[in-house]
Amino acid sequence: MLASKYVIPLFWLPLTAAQTTQVDLGWHAPKKTWINDLSQVLNGTGTHGFIFNSSVLPTGTPYGSYNWCNMPHVRAKEYPVASVEYKLEYVEVIHRHHKRTPYASNTFPKESYSWSCSDEGLFYYGEPLKSGGNTSAETYWSVFTSESNPFAPTGFNGTCQFPQITKEGLDDSWQHGKDLYQVYHDKLKFLPHELGSKLTFRVTNNVITSQVAGMLVSGMYDPSETVPLRIQPSSVDSLEPAYTCASSSSLYGSYGVGSSVSNWTAHLSAAAPLFQTLDAISGVDPTSKDWHKSFDHYFDNLSARQCHAKPLPCSIKDPKNCVSQTLADTVYRLGEYEYSFIYRDSPLALQASTASYGVWVAELAQNIRDNISRKSSVIYRHNVAHDGSVSRLLSILQVDVMVWVGMGSEVVFEIYSRKGHGDKKYVRILWGGQILESSNPSLGKVDMLDLDVLLAYFDGLVGKGASKVPGLCQTS
Ligand SMILES: *[C@@H]1O[C@H](CO)[C@@H](O)[C@H](O)[C@H]1NC(C)=O
Ligand SMILES: *[C@@H]1O[C@H](CO)[C@@H](O)[C@H](O)[C@H]1NC(C)=O
Ligand SMILES: *[C@@H]1O[C@H](CO)[C@@H](O)[C@H](O)[C@H]1NC(C)=O
Ligand SMILES: *[C@@H]1O[C@H](CO)[C@@H](O)[C@H](O)[C@H]1NC(C)=O
Ligand SMILES: *[C@@H]1O[C@H](CO)[C@@H](O)[C@H](O)[C@H]1NC(C)=O
Ligand SMILES: *[C@@H]1O[C@H](CO)[C@@H](O)[C@H](O)[C@H]1NC(C)=O
Ligand SMILES: *[C@@H]1O[C@H](CO)[C@@H](O)[C@H](O)[C@H]1NC(C)=O
Repeated sequence: MLASKYVIPLFWLPLTAAQTTQVDLGWHAPKKTWINDLSQVLNGTGTHGFIFNSSVLPTGTPYGSYNWCNMPHVRAKEYPVASVEYKLEYVEVIHRHHKRTPYASNTFPKESYSWSCSDEGLFYYGEPLKSGGNTSAETYWSVFTSESNPFAPTGFNGTCQFPQITKEGLDDSWQHGKDLYQVYHDKLKFLPHELGSKLTFRVTNNVITSQVAGMLVSGMYDPSETVPLRIQPSSVDSLEPAYTCASSSSLYGSYGVGSSVSNWTAHLSAAAPLFQTLDAISGVDPTSKDWHKSFDHYFDNLSARQCHAKPLPCSIKDPKNCVSQTLADTVYRLGEYEYSFIYRDSPLALQASTASYGVWVAELAQNIRDNISRKSSVIYRHNVAHDGSVSRLLSILQVDVMVWVGMGSEVVFEIYSRKGHGDKKYVRILWGGQILESSNPSLGKVDMLDLDVLLAYFDGLVGKGASKVPGLCQTS
């Protein structure tokens, strides 16, 4: 059972003088599924229908199924249209970037094949914004190594940055934009015909989110004008998140990656033979803490290949010794288990995520308030982020079944008014294109929930203007 000091009881949170809204700010365990059942994860087989090997689902697999390479998002065909008495007022989208090469830190010391990205350019330049000024040429990065550079790059040779969004990931980003436009413009007639001040796009300080945003905006509007991407200074970026939050890091570390708590280490100890097999193939030092404190590195390493239809790796020394699909599937199951453990199963997860993602949540609450109080005319905000962003958000929302949020994983907040109900507002949250279900009873199935309840939940956890977050981030 959870320690009582972490249980925040029900309390009444006054909203306005005239109104009080009761919300439960406590942590509630997620549903029991194979993902958080260690014996099924370790001793099971396959991936329970989860896909890891293509952006396109195998024929017969319904859209909405988990696809690590290209997670489901809002799409016209599957979109749950709200009943006619509701009018859409405001939309905020956040999603993980699309598929990419692995991070350099997740590549094996030596790779048996190279990876080419010569089918795309990473455009990077500055240009004066004042019209009539000097203009920039459309210059892009072309990755190369030289014979005279005696330092071989770690991991893959080839013409990619590790990471960069791949050509296929760029196409997935474009389609994601097109799908959203078909719902919020074509179907619901909510978005304007032209880009303008009613829409904003935001990215993090990691360039891969800008690579996605450019393609996504093109998929939506194919604009001929330049488009600003909003970005915060890297030291305080709330979207990534990158602001300093010592208590959150130490809290995650106290029960998850790096901790010696037995219910965390159980899966790592049980997986010791698995690590041995993997290390023999990858050449990773068996004493490396980094590669053995979680499955993060091996998971990214194997899934990035398979998402791009590249073969599973073989040992450089012994080319017949390769990672089997069975072994890869086990790594995938373990990765799912870890994300569920870190962001949902642990009773400390809510607190750790609230501290480290509270600022973005407070910004979201403010954005919603600015629309309904008519302070801002922005009706659609779009955020391109990372798995650490979307996972923390789902942790705060207490999603009933947590997964490792794959490429393009999306959460949408939709704010509605209702005919005959005056100024009252309602909220739907879509996760993977469908209504999100929370284990927290105040949120439940977030389908036309009284907006005051969600705002009271956010305010209660993080404070208006994230006023509680600096305190939450302080280590005691
Ligand atoms: C997996 O199976 C092995 C062998 O049957 C057993 O010893 C082990 O306890 C099982 N692991 C879990 C977590 O159930
Ligand atoms: C991808 O994986 C699925 C299920 O794991 C399998 O049915 C399918 O044949 C695989 N596709 C490719 C292209 O390997
Ligand atoms: C996998 O890890 C190895 C070992 O660090 C690295 O060389 C390789 O580039 C990685 N590959 C991927 C796809 O991450
Ligand atoms: C372009 O740059 C040059 C050199 O700084 C400057 O003299 C010139 O005014 C600029 N041109 C425009 C159109 O701003
Ligand atoms: C990668 O390049 C290094 C030299 O930089 C070379 O020694 C190595 O064999 C190359 N590996 C592959 C897989 O091409
Ligand atoms: C792990 O163990 C701790 C300490 O016994 C406990 O408080 C916590 O609930 C357990 N976490 C999970 C996810 O089982
Ligand atoms: C909030 O969004 C709705 C939906 O389009 C719009 O009608 C309303 O004008 C917006 N609020 C403000 C202050 O512009």
